[in-house]
Amino acid sequence: MAGPKPLIAGNWKMNGRLADATKLANTVSAFVRALPSTSADVLVCPPFPYLAPVAQALAGSRVRLGAQDCHAEAAGAFTGDVSADMLKDSGCSFVIVGHSERRALHGETDAVVQAKANAVLRAGMTAILCVGETLAERDEGRTIPVVASQLVGSLPANANSENLVVAYEPVWAIGTGRTPTVAQVGEVHGAIRAGLSKKFSDGAKMRILYGGSVNGLNALELLAIANVDGALVGGASLRADAFETIVKAAPRR
Ligand code: PGA
Repeated sequence: MAGPKPLIAGNWKMNGRLADATKLANTVSAFVRALPSTSADVLVCPPFPYLAPVAQALAGSRVRLGAQDCHAEAAGAFTGDVSADMLKDSGCSFVIVGHSERRALHGETDAVVQAKANAVLRAGMTAILCVGETLAERDEGRTIPVVASQLVGSLPANANSENLVVAYEPVWAIGTGRTPTVAQVGEVHGAIRAGLSKKFSDGAKMRILYGGSVNGLNALELLAIANVDGALVGGASLRADAFETIVKAAPRR
């Protein structure tokens, strides 16, 4: 059975300046325009201050815009934070929540991540919920239970295949150039699929992305694994040529 249409998402993190962001958005928009409609869905997630100018650069393109985080509350005294509704106003249709850099560097717990995912759904956008084990957890043979418990703790209740995407990102693979084996990715994605199918009526159609050192050379192999419905790409998404290679490596649907 063919899975859902793949999604290739670029997470630009805290990189580049305004001119870089608009240039990259224009280049991505141009290469996506030349692709057939059966090629993967494409998303870029720039830093907050560049959302509006990137939205402008992407006007009329099928490249979607996403944010890298949001606050769980709709409004209030939360200095420095940004609400899901504000992101929607800025042109976003996706928001990444629970990225391991947020979990590790900002102390975000599963409960916080779940509240953020709920806020994204309430605002009418799609949450990309990230989960993944540390190297110590993998070495202790705890990968599957760790990922399962992150999912139990952070999945929003009212999710469906339109408003939720799960991203499996082993912490030790992010930005390191190391990737799990095909068998390891397949095992975790299979377990996530089983969990989603048990919890949600359309869990079989939910997209499960792989993330962590995806590049132009390994994308074809990673994107061909069962239950891998796309990629969340960090470093390589900042280079238009590498990002284009990854988008083209996704199966057509
Ligand atoms: P990377 O980052 O592709 O640079 O490893 C992936 C991510 O953090 O989403």
